[in-house]
Amino acid sequence: MPSSARPGGAITLREVGPSDHASIAAILTRSYPHEPTVTAEQIGWIIGRADPQRPKVALVAEAEGAIVGFGYLRGAPPLPGLLLNVEVDVSHRRRGIGTRLLEAVTTRAADHGLSTMVSVVAADTGSLAFAARHGFVERDRRSESKIDLSTFDVNAFADVLQRAADRRIRFAVMADIDTPEMRRRLFTLANQVTGDMPSVDPMEPLTYDQFVAAWLEGPSARRELLVIGLEDDDPVAVSMVTVFPGGIAYNWMTGVMPSHRGRGLGLAAKVEALRRAKAAGIDEVWTENHNRNAPMLAINARLGYEPMPEVVQLVRG
Ligand SMILES: CC(C)(COP(=O)(O)OP(=O)(O)OC[C@H]1O[C@@H](n2cnc3c(N)ncnc32)[C@H](O)[C@@H]1OP(=O)(O)O)[C@@H](O)C(=O)NCCC(=O)NCCS
Repeated sequence: MPSSARPGGAITLREVGPSDHASIAAILTRSYPHEPTVTAEQIGWIIGRADPQRPKVALVAEAEGAIVGFGYLRGAPPLPGLLLNVEVDVSHRRRGIGTRLLEAVTTRAADHGLSTMVSVVAADTGSLAFAARHGFVERDRRSESKIDLSTFDVNAFADVLQRAADRRIRFAVMADIDTPEMRRRLFTLANQVTGDMPSVDPMEPLTYDQFVAAWLEGPSARRELLVIGLEDDDPVAVSMVTVFPGGIAYNWMTGVMPSHRGRGLGLAAKVEALRRAKAAGIDEVWTENHNRNAPMLAINARLGYEPMPEVVQLVRG
């Protein structure tokens, strides 16, 4: 039903406070039933980690005493521009709430000159129509996928690890080899890998401090699950598992130095990362890929990752 045909109750918008995090988490859990349950703790973490240098606006919409939607605009290094989430609870859509939230968030962050990105589930034609109506155009598509570690059998990949060993590559985790020199070398590898990701919007290089926070010392970093492939003492491959608030484990930032690509080291690093994660008692690992990243999608399929619904990334400005 078009919003113009249904007046609905009074809607008020106000700034998000910590006591709203549980309601926001519940809205997200209802919207994305294929995803793990979202917790208030995760929302607090996401809101807290916005880039302080870029505009940040976080609003909730209230109707009939309940929180029925939220809008959140922020910078999230290493991504350029701004990320926008506008979410309306499934039972309150088509009442104009999304439009109110989007316009309010945009107005409060006026004059930044930055592009704004949103993500919409590809099968959600209604939300895509909303995004198009507000001037967003498709830039990219990506998918999350997940692997059940209870059925992941590292022995099935013994040949992969053996081939790496035959090439004199040994795998270690950062927790065991962490030195100032190794941090510097890993920083170089991190920015190489990040810069080479096949994204429409290339990632900005991390500063050393951002690298340390995201990869080594942030609340989700797990140096004991940060796998590094070493040739002598030189890091040439990497794959990390981080554990976000709420316990969701993510495998990301898998990469190989250009000089060492095409030799199975990306797959071997991921096998080793999953082996370590399973040994650490993690049940399930998630990952996300751009759909143009054919080599990584092939690796994930071989490992047994199950693809989740495709997500469209759209940009305005
Ligand atoms: C996208 C979303 C925020 C829209 O919220 P909403 O409050 O339902 O949207 P509105 O009522 O303000 O809709 C405004 C216009 O968008 C378009 N639209 C919104 N939902 C639509 C649907 N299901 N089908 C077709 N058009 C739709 C229509 O043009 C609508 O105007 P109309 O109702 O007068 O025809 C909501 O569907 C949602 O939370 N989706 C999941 C999150 C998401 O993908 N967010 C990113 C969006 S940029």
